[in-house]
Amino acid sequence: MRVCMPVRILAIETSCDETAAAVCECGGALDAPTFEVKSNAVHSQVEAHREFGGVVPSLAKREHAKNLAAVLAEALKNCPTAPTEIRSPYGSGDRISVNGGIRKILEREGGLADALLDLIAKTPKPAIDLIAVTVGPGLEPALWVGISAARALALAWQVPVVGADHMEGHIAASLAGRASPPLPALALLISGGHTELALVKGWGAYEVLGETRDDAVGEAYDKVARILGLPYPGGPEVAKLAAAARANPPVERDDVKLPRPMIASGDLDFSLSGLKTAVLYAARDFGELTEGFKASLAAEFEEAVADVLAAKVRAAIEAHGPKSLIVGGGVIANGYLRERLAAVAKDVGLELLLPPPGLATDNAAMVAAAGYLRFLRSGPDAPASLIANGSRRLTDS
Ligand code: KG4
Ligand code: ZN
Repeated sequence: MRVCMPVRILAIETSCDETAAAVCECGGALDAPTFEVKSNAVHSQVEAHREFGGVVPSLAKREHAKNLAAVLAEALKNCPTAPTEIRSPYGSGDRISVNGGIRKILEREGGLADALLDLIAKTPKPAIDLIAVTVGPGLEPALWVGISAARALALAWQVPVVGADHMEGHIAASLAGRASPPLPALALLISGGHTELALVKGWGAYEVLGETRDDAVGEAYDKVARILGLPYPGGPEVAKLAAAARANPPVERDDVKLPRPMIASGDLDFSLSGLKTAVLYAARDFGELTEGFKASLAAEFEEAVADVLAAKVRAAIEAHGPKSLIVGGGVIANGYLRERLAAVAKDVGLELLLPPPGLATDNAAMVAAAGYLRFLRSGPDAPASLIANGSRRLTDS
């Protein structure tokens, strides 16, 4: 499908613990897609999950259902409205049957039906051409909230829907506000649930070159944070401590040395669980943790992660000769990892694409981009065919 007119997309993301909605304008054909972020609303569930030290799926589902209507309202606040409201030739009876359809679609989503019907009643029909929603990977009960909401809004506003891949979204986030890079690109994806290297041969033609055999990078950050007694969510806390130790090395820094797992394994796979265990043992052997030792461990952990990621990216570039490098996923919010990967790209002379601020961790703007790419490949989906797939793979795109 060749689309040249800008397509205004309302996107919804509920795969994990961020409830997000965004409006983006996407354009261009599959060989030169572009997307511009018009609004990007995110409600984090961090507070709800904090006492459990991690994301609880049933709680995530409940929180999405509770907050999604408000997040959608925020995303749609400045969206142009459709020039003419479509009036039903059948009078108000038709509106009643649409409302009945919406209640049926949302019957398993707690109070979301009331909240969305209220939003629909208060919001003039927005001028959107397509609704994109994450269908996987992620937590299935959480994914269903977004899918049901997308179907309900599609029915209310008579707009087509498309299912989007969350990880394709993390890759496409870097396209925001810029031209598509030369392909093939090497994509490094580092998030809470995924660590993989993929070759982007075309938008939608992905080959997974390597992945983690155990923990994802973000998961390792979060577990290390717990070992060091840092508050949830751990990734940014470990990063803060590591940055402080780099700026002002504590006396303990030289005593801490951690392994670089699989750095010379000869393949493009990763293993992070041994690194986390090494942090655990180092902490245990030290005894009562001093602030200096904690900061040293955080810095050495981050250094080890950076060394492994940089080495694997270099190896993948040597083996596959990509023309650009894209890094995506929540962990690339990390300033030090950004610097280290930028140094690799500079050294090998590759253009580097990183997500702009606000688009590294989970958001719906990236879902609009992935939805647009999917729409270009195969058009809209039948609303009832959208199914949550928790273990969806990039190659299913
Ligand atoms: O992509 P994302 O928002 O959600 C998933 O799809 O998993 O990634 C979340 C992960 C969490 O593990 C979080 O601790 C980590 O990204 N993260 C960071 C930073 N910000 C978020 N890790 C290291 N440094 C950061 N600054
Ligand atoms: Zn993510």
